[in-house]
Amino acid sequence: MKPDLRVKLGPLEMQNPVIAASGTFGYGQEYESLVNPDLLGGIVVKGLSLKPMGGNPPPRIVETPCGMLNAIGLANIGLEAFLKDKLPKLRHLRTNVIVNIYGHHVDDYAELAAASRKWRASLRWR
Ligand SMILES: Cc1cc2nc3c(=O)[nH]c(=O)nc-3n(C[C@H](O)[C@H](O)[C@H](O)COP(=O)(O)O)c2cc1C
Repeated sequence: MKPDLRVKLGPLEMQNPVIAASGTFGYGQEYESLVNPDLLGGIVVKGLSLKPMGGNPPPRIVETPCGMLNAIGLANIGLEAFLKDKLPKLRHLRTNVIVNIYGHHVDDYAELAAASRKWRASLRWR
């Protein structure tokens, strides 16, 4: 018998509770040779700002005796490149895509949230 792993997170229905954390899974395509993203409950794509951000200078990840520390600095490609280069591929995924936005001012959040409302309709949701 196959266990039923489905969960609900607010209005989001997920086939299982495993979500790839933001920034650790790129935009889904980068890990396709290792894991099929469609098998996950969802992926959180890299934090997205209006303009591209280079992030912190290296070293950005260090090992410690109890794990690792990271300070990537929210490096990301920015809204325009996300819409042009990443969103079309994300449309083909058969899992939940959670977009994580951030800004330097409340207006940035408003603009990114408004943009996300538009692309939401074009993503395939489970
Ligand atoms: C290489 C790397 C890049 C990351 N990039 C982001 C990011 O862009 N946005 C974000 O919110 N978190 C980012 N994170 C943080 C992870 O999402 C976070 O560590 C993960 O959710 C673990 O959550 P926890 O700290 O609650 O255990 C990044 C982590 C790593 C290791």
